[in-house]
Amino acid sequence: MKLILLGPPGAGKGTQARRLMDAHAIPQLSTGDMLRAAVSAGSPIGKMAKEVMDRGDLVSDDIIVGMIAERIDQPDCANGFILDGFPRSEPQAQALDTMLAERGLALDHVIEMKVDDEALVERLAGRYTCANCGAGYHDRFQIPAVSGVCDSCGGTEFKRRDDDNETTVRSRLQVYHDQTAPLLPYYRAKAVLRQVDGMADIDEVTVQINVVLKGGK
Ligand code: AP5
Repeated sequence: MKLILLGPPGAGKGTQARRLMDAHAIPQLSTGDMLRAAVSAGSPIGKMAKEVMDRGDLVSDDIIVGMIAERIDQPDCANGFILDGFPRSEPQAQALDTMLAERGLALDHVIEMKVDDEALVERLAGRYTCANCGAGYHDRFQIPAVSGVCDSCGGTEFKRRDDDNETTVRSRLQVYHDQTAPLLPYYRAKAVLRQVDGMADIDEVTVQINVVLKGGK
């Protein structure tokens, strides 16, 4: 299964991708996570990307497309993958089409996660992750079963993203509307686009995604 989760910052792409990854045994390919790993490693790409990400702008298409092309050739992608945060512009979507065609592959689903802008600001302001395993949480919407202890690994250290402050979030939202939302008609024209209600609670969104994956309405 080759799937794109498409939606604005905070729509729940990462949250749902991790659930799908566990349920379908295929990897989540998050360009945001790849870039943050490059920033942490202090690599040349990471040094260049940090400033762009802090502004809420998009990193250059060449870098992103190169990262994804390399990643989908890895053995763990043989049975499919979940694209989270890619593509994010029409040139990236066209590059993905070419990349898949060259490998004799095709997309199965593009799922739009639709959420109101004001809800997104609240979601991102309250987001944090386990510093050890990366499991995602929210101050109100996704609280660990035992306060201060990660449900997945038992870790007790958590972190928040630099770009989750309100100013950068609003700029990321604008970039989404200007550069990424045009992908909705792009994929609608290819008859692969489906929509789920990203305003529903996390479990309900998972149910709606599973209905799409099973070919239901
Ligand atoms: P990236 O890391 O991709 O960030 P994003 O797209 O802005 O998306 P987020 O990770 O912020 O949100 P999400 O939809 O995954 O939400 P989550 O599940 O965590 O990109 C970061 C930056 O990297 C970009 O700004 C850009 O600079 C660069 N970049 C990345 N990809 C690029 C590309 N392709 N091209 C160029 N540049 C690129 O959920 C958010 C919170 O809400 C969590 O706390 C969660 O618990 C909670 N939540 C989730 N679902 C629900 C729900 N249904 N109800 C209530 N709360 C919920």
